[in-house]
Amino acid sequence: MYVITFANPKGGSGKTTSAMLLAEQIAISGGRVSILDLDPNANILAWAEGRQAEGREVPFVVHARPQAEETVELIDSLVDSTDYLIIDLEGSKDQIVTFALSRTDLCVIPLDGSPMEARQAAAAVRLVQTTSNMIRTPIAFTLLFTRTNAAFQTTDERDVRAEMELNAIPILPVRLAKRAPYTRIFRDGVLLAELTELVAAEHAGKTASVTDKALKQVSSAIGNARDYAQAVVHALTEEGAE
Ligand SMILES: Nc1ncnc2c1ncn2[C@@H]1O[C@H](COP(=O)(O)OP(=O)(O)OP(=O)(O)O)[C@@H](O)[C@H]1O
Ligand SMILES: [Mg+2]
Repeated sequence: MYVITFANPKGGSGKTTSAMLLAEQIAISGGRVSILDLDPNANILAWAEGRQAEGREVPFVVHARPQAEETVELIDSLVDSTDYLIIDLEGSKDQIVTFALSRTDLCVIPLDGSPMEARQAAAAVRLVQTTSNMIRTPIAFTLLFTRTNAAFQTTDERDVRAEMELNAIPILPVRLAKRAPYTRIFRDGVLLAELTELVAAEHAGKTASVTDKALKQVSSAIGNARDYAQAVVHALTEEGAE
C-alpha cells in the first residue's frame, strides 16, 4: 500500500481538491483507493455520504477522522484492502498530522505561485523533514503547483519555482491549473468523469459553439487531472524518490 498525504498549513491551498482528483484518477485506472479524511471540514466524507445516500457510485472507500492516537493503527489496518491510501490533512500542526506523516510514502504539498503560499509550503517541508528525523526514516515529498493559470506562468510562480529549485526542493512536473470543473466536484457531488454527460445535458438546445466550449473545458480538466495523477504515481514509484 502506498500512502500519499496532502499537507500545507495554508488553508485553502488545494489539499482537498487535489486529493479528490488523485483518488478518482487512480480508481479509474484500476487501483484500490481509500481516502482518510483528516480535514476537520470533512468535505470528502460528506461528498461520499451524499452520493451513497442517493445510491450513486463511490469508487473508493472514505474513512472518517479517528481519535489522533488511533491514526497509525487505522492506516496499518488498510494494508490488505488498499493499493493507494490518500490522506487529506488539516492545515494546522495538530498531533494527528505527525501521526499521518509517519506512515506517508509521498507527501504532496499544494501551493499556488504566490510568495505567501511559498512560505507556508516551506513550513510544510520542514514539518515533513522534522517527522522524518523523528522516525529516522526518509519521507519523500514534492511540491504541487495548483490553482495556477492554465495558459501561462506568472512572474511570481516563476520566481517561487526558481527559489525552490535552488533549495533542491522537488516539484511535481505537472501543474494542476485553476479550472471551473474542479470546483463542481464538491458543489454538485459529482465525479470529474460525470461532468461530460452533465455539461452536455445542461447545454441541450444551446448553440454548438457554446456547447463545444463548455465540453472542451471539461475535457481539458480531465486531461490535466490524468497527467497530474500519473506524475504523482510516477514520483511515488520511481526509485530513490525524495
Ligand atoms: N485546481 C483548482 N481549480 C479550481 N478551484 C480550486 C482548485 N483547487 C482548489 N480550488 C478551490 O479553492 C478552494 C480551496 O480548495 P481546497 O478546499 O481544496 O483547499 P484545502 O487546502 O483543502 O483547504 P483547507 O485548508 O480549508 O482544508 C475551494 O473553493 C476549491 O474549490
Ligand atoms: Mg481541505
